[in-house]
Amino acid sequence: MTSVISIDKNKTDQEIYESLFPQIDSLLLSDEPILTGLANFTAALNDAFTKISWVGFYFLKNDFLFLGPFQGKTACAKIKNGSGVCGTSAMQQKTIIVDDVDKFPGHIACDSRSKSEIVVPIIQNEKVIAVLDLDSYDYSAFNQIDKVYLKKIIDLLKTKFNFSKLNFF
Ligand code: SME
Repeated sequence: MTSVISIDKNKTDQEIYESLFPQIDSLLLSDEPILTGLANFTAALNDAFTKISWVGFYFLKNDFLFLGPFQGKTACAKIKNGSGVCGTSAMQQKTIIVDDVDKFPGHIACDSRSKSEIVVPIIQNEKVIAVLDLDSYDYSAFNQIDKVYLKKIIDLLKTKFNFSKLNFF
């Protein structure tokens, strides 16, 4: 069992992300199934930030994003590619930060209390494999710091797992 590092919630977001790297590194073991590592990864991220109300993955298959490992309330199981914040991020292959979800046309409200959101695509060999979605009950909870660090975290995930060889569908 990997030891859990306690996170000081008085730290800045940048400091929290920095202290998460070794924890994430130790949670993601290349010889264990990818689902195992990603499940613990969502728990670590959720535990580290009080601003997160929901964090999880959606995996792209054919023209739909399907719910993967997550922490939070039950969520939409299936999102059409191009729909909502997740589908837009997947379709445009770019990170999307939404300060106020009510102002994002087509936002899909899995939890009516969600106020802001960030979605980061996971791209391998120029194809979107999945998206990482973070929600918050606060407006404007996510910014460029989150964008930069979540991208770094996804780069770390990609060194551990070959996302283009996912075989759990
Ligand atoms: N809000 C997302 C849907 C997923 S839930 O937030 C977990 C969207 O608009 O795509």
